[in-house]
Amino acid sequence: MTTTAVTHIASLVTNDPSLGNGTPLGLILDAAVVIEGDRVVWTGESSKAPATDSAVDASGRAVIPGFVDSHSHLIFAGDRTQEFNARMSGRAYSAGGIRTTVAATRAATDEQLAANVARYLAEALRQGTTTFETKSGYGLTVEDEARALRIAARHTEEVTYLGAHIVSPDYADDPAGYVDLVTGPMLDACAPYARWIDVFCEKGAFDGDQARAILTAGKAKGLQPRVHAGKLSYGPGVQLAVELDAASADHCTHLTDADVDALAAGNTVATLLPGAEFSTRAPWPDARRLLDAGVTVALSTDCNPGSSFTSSVPFCVALAVRDMGMTPDEALWAATAGGAAALRREDVGRLAPGARADLVLLDAPSHVHLAYRPGVPLVAGVWRAGEQAVPLG
Ligand code: NIG
Ligand code: FE
Repeated sequence: MTTTAVTHIASLVTNDPSLGNGTPLGLILDAAVVIEGDRVVWTGESSKAPATDSAVDASGRAVIPGFVDSHSHLIFAGDRTQEFNARMSGRAYSAGGIRTTVAATRAATDEQLAANVARYLAEALRQGTTTFETKSGYGLTVEDEARALRIAARHTEEVTYLGAHIVSPDYADDPAGYVDLVTGPMLDACAPYARWIDVFCEKGAFDGDQARAILTAGKAKGLQPRVHAGKLSYGPGVQLAVELDAASADHCTHLTDADVDALAAGNTVATLLPGAEFSTRAPWPDARRLLDAGVTVALSTDCNPGSSFTSSVPFCVALAVRDMGMTPDEALWAATAGGAAALRREDVGRLAPGARADLVLLDAPSHVHLAYRPGVPLVAGVWRAGEQAVPLG
């Protein structure tokens, strides 16, 4: 296997506290990374790098691990420009808008859905995302949910069954019947394509008892839980997530002290999705409160056509630093190692020997520029699993 060194990296984020300056970011200055096949095999000071078959000179720019976007909803058709426009003119966000996308998604061909996901993934990759999770949830029939997951599974191993996004309009008068469908025939059809099961635990979607039944049924079929919790209001979702050992409770915008304590004591990551608060003009989640309590925090896009139509993790990092009380170091960690923790992955989100070689070269001397220079396309090159996925600029 050939070896490649990326040398003269002004600052390298490894996310390995045993490397570099001893902080959680494991920052090494004037660093190099050596890639062999799809793996990182060496990191350290550039002057000490071993001989390799080829070398790329980073010329004093920064390298970070590829972003791990652990929460997106990319299997959909249509957009909701009018709804966004109305919201920015004063109308409130409501989960009911999801029905608009359900109608468009059901009407789309497989090819249209596949082209859509490929387009948003290419967009995300250009902005440094090398691992992503995505969900169903805009089909809400057995066939439409299963095809969404089938299409998603061609692009990522992190596929989530979200038949419990809202009660299907076809079951408007029979929510219990819809829960039976989601935990019965729909689960049977979807489980082969998914690793995760998710539920939107919220007023107007699914209550605590329904969410528990849905996640428990998924676990019995070998799916691991994650939960949309505390997005629009306080609710039982966070406590349920911790109780069921969900990998992540997502949104966490409305949290009681007991929710924060439960997250701090359990193994469930709090995934914050500031694109949703930005696009719905909602109050920001309080990252500082969670971090100070010792909770593991992830930052992701929630990319979806309704509440957060951004594929940009750098944008979310900038929001988290400006408005959610995170330092630039904490936000970078949350968008890389935090996302990996939310997917219970050890191979991504860090750049230490043995990790997958997912590197993002920034057109900047340090990762702090992601928040310092908001909105600027700073990604100058991406390697995914050792392959040059975005050519060096
Ligand atoms: O995570 N909360 C539910 N689902 C999405 C919104 C989906 C939509 O509005 O289409 C979310 O924000
Ligand atoms: Fe979501």
